[in-house]
Amino acid sequence: MLSVVRELKEALGKALKQVVSVEEALVVTPAAAKFNTDFISPIALTIFNKHKKSGAFGFANPKALADKIHENLELPRVLSKVEVAKNGFLNFFVSEEWLGTNITQVCREGQVVLDLDIPRVKTLVDFSSPNIAKEMHVGHLRSTIIGDSICRCLEFLGFPVMRVNHLGDWGTQFGMLLTYLMDTYPDWETTSPDISNLETFYKAAKKRFDEDSDFKERSRLKVVELQSGEEQAMKAWRYIYKVSREYLQIIYDRLEIELEDYGESFYNPMLESVTKELSEKGLVEESEGALCLSVKVCEVPLMMRKKDGGYGYDSTDLAAARYRLQQIDVKRVIYVTDNGQANHFYSIFEAAQAAGWHLPPETRMDHAGFGVVLGPDGKKFKTREGESVKLIDLLNEAKNRAKDRLTQRSEEPGMGQQTYLQPETFEQAAEDIGIAAIKYYDLRQNRNSSYKFEFEKMLDPRGNTAVYLLYAYARICSILDKAGEEAVASALGTQCAITTTQEKSLALFISRFPDVIETVIDELALHKLCDLIYEISVKFSEFYNHCKVIGSEQQDSRIQLCVSTKLTMKKIFELLGVKPQERL
Ligand code: ARG
Repeated sequence: MLSVVRELKEALGKALKQVVSVEEALVVTPAAAKFNTDFISPIALTIFNKHKKSGAFGFANPKALADKIHENLELPRVLSKVEVAKNGFLNFFVSEEWLGTNITQVCREGQVVLDLDIPRVKTLVDFSSPNIAKEMHVGHLRSTIIGDSICRCLEFLGFPVMRVNHLGDWGTQFGMLLTYLMDTYPDWETTSPDISNLETFYKAAKKRFDEDSDFKERSRLKVVELQSGEEQAMKAWRYIYKVSREYLQIIYDRLEIELEDYGESFYNPMLESVTKELSEKGLVEESEGALCLSVKVCEVPLMMRKKDGGYGYDSTDLAAARYRLQQIDVKRVIYVTDNGQANHFYSIFEAAQAAGWHLPPETRMDHAGFGVVLGPDGKKFKTREGESVKLIDLLNEAKNRAKDRLTQRSEEPGMGQQTYLQPETFEQAAEDIGIAAIKYYDLRQNRNSSYKFEFEKMLDPRGNTAVYLLYAYARICSILDKAGEEAVASALGTQCAITTTQEKSLALFISRFPDVIETVIDELALHKLCDLIYEISVKFSEFYNHCKVIGSEQQDSRIQLCVSTKLTMKKIFELLGVKPQERL
């Protein structure tokens, strides 16, 4: 599938060159419904207004300029006509014939195949990244869901992607954890004590640390041992790491998310040489025994080395930036964390640029920040007892609620038929629907906004929710089932003809897919993909309500519209990490 916007920009660019010689960004956007056209461009107005003072190249008004551009425009095959509005806007009308061809192509290929001419640079997405021995919280859930979907989009477009889990697996808190492990379970090496409730373990260690000064001192010394690679300390560290990582894996498996671990410990051996390099480049200065790196974006400097000689979060991220950009030649790095860390990352980007590792536009560093997940009451997300909410409990509750709904619905009259989901598959379907509901609710938000975690809304079968979309998808599957394999196969042998406004509208939304995905990977705005799948399913309903499919004269074309809607929705679900059901 080719990108309509790209075709239009190309044609527009060529025409513009014939008319005036200016460098101007070519803007083409889908038109709002009230404009009665498909795409618009304000390019003539923009150029006219910018050059008004110097005579606007002799054009009397924006419309005159737009007319001249129009005259020179070679109509691309995706268009049926172009018109100039009174105010100088260029209006583009997409050709029904081309839309039909596009639909037929999707059907015949059996999947959405994109035809996009873009450089596929090596990209690293740093996401999820919880801290070892601490419960993964809802912020990490957001990072995991958003990061995974970003990876899926890039992978679909053919980018080489590294999915990196920058685990918090190093640092001063390990002194405390190791000392606590060794004190509480003196025979830990032989008995592998059960510390699987890591939250409890962490809290107990912290309590001891705060109350017992001897313990505190021993913890401090333990960090030094760990950092120098002392055998016993390393062994205890590996043990805690393993238990913690196994627990995290349960969550990743349920969310079906793949990650490669490059925790903070991975960069430990590089810290000294990075410090040396930055010092030699004159970027760090000493302040009260610590080594700091000042940046323009933020008042607080980056801490390269603390005054006790230790390295922390900033140092690790500087080392990670150098490793990624210099050593493994990554061209784009995307960090997915809450907005609270935005300044940290902007400081890292600035430092990486000053050090000469990051050379925009050849390399790109993005912070895909996001807002906070609040409890249903709009306050910090906590359990009734005031504890932090465990992710595993959230996944279980979503699943249980989804299962209750499936059971309830199956008891309604007429629902036991073969065409609906059968009780023996409820368990798996509930898991898929529950997880889909959580993921989709997160992704459809503008990532910078905060939102309330509300099961009722996530699982609502109406509105822009996963459940609504899953039902819409299952309905299309059942329409195609009813039509029968033979009818579908014979429909695919024909050329799809678009005859009604509802058909056109649906076909037009399907054709937006390449443009939307390009914007999504640029802006890291996954809600635009959610909006698209939602629009497609709304347009499908309108089409289905107005246009008879089976037994109509246009049966073949309309079956193709059903098939291509199904395939497009399926692909978008996949990019959002949602598993669709053929039956519901
Ligand atoms: N572990 C950190 C946290 O829980 C997130 C790490 C994000 N990635 C990074 N390169 N700093 O807040």
